Amino acid sequence: TLAAAQAGAQCCHLDASKGMVEWARENAKLNQLEEAPIRWIVDDVIKFLRREVKRGNQYDGILLDPPSFGRGKKGELYKIEDQLMTTLDLVHEVLGEDPAFVLLTSHTPGFSPIVLGNLLRQYHDAGTYECGEMLLTGKPGVNDLPNGNWARWINTPS
Ligand SMILES: C[S@@+](CC[C@H](N)C(=O)[O-])C[C@H]1O[C@@H](n2cnc3c(N)ncnc32)[C@H](O)[C@@H]1O
Repeated sequence: TLAAAQAGAQCCHLDASKGMVEWARENAKLNQLEEAPIRWIVDDVIKFLRREVKRGNQYDGILLDPPSFGRGKKGELYKIEDQLMTTLDLVHEVLGEDPAFVLLTSHTPGFSPIVLGNLLRQYHDAGTYECGEMLLTGKPGVNDLPNGNWARWINTPS
């Protein structure tokens, strides 16, 4: 969210955990993004996306970092194996006419770069797909620390 806001995007940041949203807001402040156009939402992702579809709100790009297992604002169970497809369906419903990208990351064993890429590929024929492993990198000579996987769809002209 902060990288997108810094690049000039109007953002909507959602997490079911109030603490996580407070932490993100604190990070925004530390990055001089206190006044950036970011909607901070504490809600269950599926309930929120369904409401956004009904309201007709549309997005140019979406970044998702779903948990392996979590709880929504009112205790709704989120299991990545059960809820990710519904989440992705809704994500693609709220994308606008000519969206820019969808970036999906995961820290769940089994959700490899190729699996994440294949999940995104179901929605668009055109565009560019990329995927890889997320790494925390250190000083030269320090081993990289694997931190999950990512895949993204970019709406490049075909
Ligand atoms: C892998 S973390 C993402 C952290 C995020 N990338 C960040 O930097 O703040 C997954 C997040 O999903 C949230 N979560 C779990 N269940 C949820 C749900 N049903 N709806 C929305 N968020 C949920 C958790 O609170 C957790 O912060």
